[in-house]
Amino acid sequence: MHAATDPVAIDDADRSQRLTGIRSLPLVDRVRLLTGATPWALHGLDSLDLAPVVVSDGPIGVRGVDEELTPSAQLPSPSAVAATWNPALAARLGTLVAREARRKNIDVVLAPVVNLQRTPVGGRHFECFSEDPLLTARIATDYVAAAQAEGVGMCVKHFVGNESETDRTNYVARIDERTLREAYLAPFETVVHEGGAWSVMAAYNRVDDGVESAPATEHRHLVVDVLKREWGFDGVVISDWLATGSTVESANGGLDLVMPGPGGPWEQHLLDAVEAGEVSEDVIDEKVERILTLARRVGAIGRPSLPVPGVGDPRGDVPAGLYESAETRALLREAVARSTVVLRNDGTLPLKPAAVHSIALIGPNAVEPFIQGGGSAFVHAPYASLPAEALRDALPDAALTLVRGGSGRRHVPRIDSGMVTTPDGAAGYELALFDVNGAPIGAPAVVDGGEDWNRHVPLEARRARIRARVRLTETGHNRLEVGLSGAHTVRFDGEVVSESSRIASSDVILDSSANHPEGPGRDYEVREPVVVEIDADVQVVDAEGYGTFVRFALRHEATALDTDGEIAEAVEAARAADVAIVIVGTNEETESEGWDRTDLDLPARQNELVRRVAEANPRTVVVVNAGGPVELPWLDDVAAVLWWWLPGQEAGNGLADALLGRTEPSGRLPWTLPAHLADCPVPDAVPVNGIVDYAEGVHVGHRGWDRLGRTPAREFGFGLGYTTWDFRELTPVGWQRDARRGDEFVVEVEIANTGERTGRATVQVYLADPADAAHRPVRWLAGFGQADAAPGQATRVRVRIPRRSFETWDVASHSWKFVSGTYRVHAGRSSRDLPLEAIVDMAEAAGPGASLK
Ligand code: BGC
Repeated sequence: MHAATDPVAIDDADRSQRLTGIRSLPLVDRVRLLTGATPWALHGLDSLDLAPVVVSDGPIGVRGVDEELTPSAQLPSPSAVAATWNPALAARLGTLVAREARRKNIDVVLAPVVNLQRTPVGGRHFECFSEDPLLTARIATDYVAAAQAEGVGMCVKHFVGNESETDRTNYVARIDERTLREAYLAPFETVVHEGGAWSVMAAYNRVDDGVESAPATEHRHLVVDVLKREWGFDGVVISDWLATGSTVESANGGLDLVMPGPGGPWEQHLLDAVEAGEVSEDVIDEKVERILTLARRVGAIGRPSLPVPGVGDPRGDVPAGLYESAETRALLREAVARSTVVLRNDGTLPLKPAAVHSIALIGPNAVEPFIQGGGSAFVHAPYASLPAEALRDALPDAALTLVRGGSGRRHVPRIDSGMVTTPDGAAGYELALFDVNGAPIGAPAVVDGGEDWNRHVPLEARRARIRARVRLTETGHNRLEVGLSGAHTVRFDGEVVSESSRIASSDVILDSSANHPEGPGRDYEVREPVVVEIDADVQVVDAEGYGTFVRFALRHEATALDTDGEIAEAVEAARAADVAIVIVGTNEETESEGWDRTDLDLPARQNELVRRVAEANPRTVVVVNAGGPVELPWLDDVAAVLWWWLPGQEAGNGLADALLGRTEPSGRLPWTLPAHLADCPVPDAVPVNGIVDYAEGVHVGHRGWDRLGRTPAREFGFGLGYTTWDFRELTPVGWQRDARRGDEFVVEVEIANTGERTGRATVQVYLADPADAAHRPVRWLAGFGQADAAPGQATRVRVRIPRRSFETWDVASHSWKFVSGTYRVHAGRSSRDLPLEAIVDMAEAAGPGASLK
């Protein structure tokens, strides 16, 4: 352990001069810089000509800071990006995100997430790239490097052990040293070293790495010793929003910036701690130095400040309509088609336009696709290309019938805000707030009826009363529900319909009104107005009122569900059509930040819908619209299955291209698709006595499936595309040194396209250590590469295996150790389809110049 007066030294000729300059600033100014000025902006400082640095969420776009949520280009979700297995495409998407940031005057994008998909039920599964550390690292590194080349910083998150959401601000991720190094820290290390990330976000959870058990925002060992010292990270460590729970421990633990602001545990508290000698000025100055380095990198020094940070004309040469320019549309469309994974195909795909005269387009997600996951990753897209429109454009001569086939939801949808007034008849609902003594805070506000977010809640608020008059517009069935999280009383027309005193810690900042398993509701037959009154505890993040929240949503559906009738209608439509395309999937009730799933079921009666349609039409193509795995019990019983992810704004066009083969859906699964949740190596991440124990060690994802010898529905790396590939020859070439990536062992794989269409192959290379002296995974992904080839064409794909793939973390010496000896190198189409094998003997002195034995 290091004393509090021992900041991290970054060797740099000008450093002492810089530090002297920093020290000459008044302490109060220096400390002020270390907490946000607003939820999304840092403080500026006139004496340094420093404009506020502005941050905003990614990773699928740039939400921006203006409350009215101006549009942002909306990318496919990160797992889709990883499913392309194409770092160059990820880089092009990173460039787009950075240009979107410049357009919105954003300096740092809070992205990407490089946590691993440890369990399929993880709420932010869709926001992560992959279950595999190498695939995650390779995609994230090129995304970050490309974005930062545009002068926009990336904040890589969440450091570390944030693989699940249940009780996420409290649980202790217990991860042994070796597992951390080889699996969960590995992507961060690569993104810092090779991507040169300018900032890293400290996670909500705690981490017990065997050296120290502490919140990630104060984990001195991981943040100071590993990230900053050992890896030489010279960027800013930013707290996750409202994650910081201490003053002295977090300041000495390596955190540089508390977000959001103002308020929180630093500011005056940190000044007091410096004056009391609990935090040294050197520690403060190092943080300031890092923030100024970031400011310099993003151009915030010497730039005029905007009246509202983050709101102004586009910065630089970025066009105002970048989010819908032809170039952006084309890139996103390509990404959707390229990420789509063909899980099964009996030859029905690609569709041949001449043979398709009629299409039945069926399914809840055909009518209302789920194009982005829930939570902080949300961006407001300029438009959504819908499957029906895109297919009509693509096949203008075919008749297309669109049928829902039943709802895919467990709850009714969000209310039409036009139905909501205050009791006095003003448009919107009335929000009254009260302090700890029950005294009203100001006059009640009128808030837009469709809004469930809580930016209207001041810090001193402790209770909220919401009153709304809902005008039911239809006679007959009306279902009215309220979704909320936390302690509450809900009355409909004065009658209590739900009461709860429960305020689980996971409700605070974490949950959302989309997740309301016990959400109160009522059915109404008549069209009289219903007065809804909600009394709710304001959720207070810590004892000092640092962050306050009320969340609720009104939901309404005016027609009684007739699922039997809708399914019957879908079956009839399928029977009458040349081909049935059924789009099933999840929705915002299922996949979001804030909670983990408890099952992998397709919600509602979607499995039944697929089976019934497939019985009616043998040419049934199922499209799965989900970010994380869902069980597909009919997977091998239908003609074709595509995995379409959470595809973003170009959803429909990308899908039409994939269905018709205009762009080959060349995606490969970046995670394992289980047949049953119970088969998964880690079926849940519910803390036990507050601990999430990463007991499976380095055997995360497909490595765990291999170790347990279990058979998934489709393995990691699987994807058929539209052609077939012969894997002919695997040739070990030798070591080379890359300026950015270091020492790499190169192999070449000869493949040939044996099908009838031009296609894109992904060559996957895995290593195995037959002696297994180091107790390694059965096989681990060591490299991959891609090539396009025409029918009959053979090509050679070079795959670079990083030196690290031959190393293990040695717990005795706390260092990486190159493991010499015999390795099996496997190459093939997926983690379980590896026709080629070579044996290489790695000498002790492996590296460029070393000959193979
Ligand atoms: C999330 C972060 C996000 C931050 C700001 C947090 O709840 O965990 O990923 O960047 O909010 O929105």
